Amino acid sequence: MQKIRVLMVCLGNICRSPMAHGVFQARVRAHGLESAIEVDSAGTAGYHVGARPDPRAREEASRRGYDLDQLRARQLEADDFETFDYILTMDEANYRNAQQIQPNGARARLHRFLEFAQDHPEREVPDPYYGGPDGFVHVMDLVEAASDGLLDHICREHALERVS
Ligand code: 4NP
Repeated sequence: MQKIRVLMVCLGNICRSPMAHGVFQARVRAHGLESAIEVDSAGTAGYHVGARPDPRAREEASRRGYDLDQLRARQLEADDFETFDYILTMDEANYRNAQQIQPNGARARLHRFLEFAQDHPEREVPDPYYGGPDGFVHVMDLVEAASDGLLDHICREHALERVS
């Protein structure tokens, strides 16, 4: 069976989307779905291509039991819309920038990630880059909630059985 491919997108691919990548990947593993779902992340901008996630993102992730150390930033490209099934953007600017390079009739469905977050009124994951460590705590809360909702959604759409 062809894998379901999920791509998390923010601006720089060093803060929010790597956190979303790590958390969603951990959810996929925890439910025994690695053979069915593949996860990646990218940024709409190329400033940080090749860089590891921001140390503040890695620290907050590690505090909650996620490991982002293997991730490296890359830029979103039009071809991603042909090779991924779900592309999730963190904020409205990311959504508009992704839409601008989305080819007509592309395979991927483009969503705002927080559509899937239950119990959070926010509709955008705020950019934590220029703020303090609290911003990363808040991003992680939003990303964990949206990851749970997204996994539910994908399992329903594809009739996937979770192991636990
Ligand atoms: P991200 O955060 O989009 O969550 O990775 C940012 C990272 C870098 C910059 C802005 C936001 N920057 O301007 O370099």
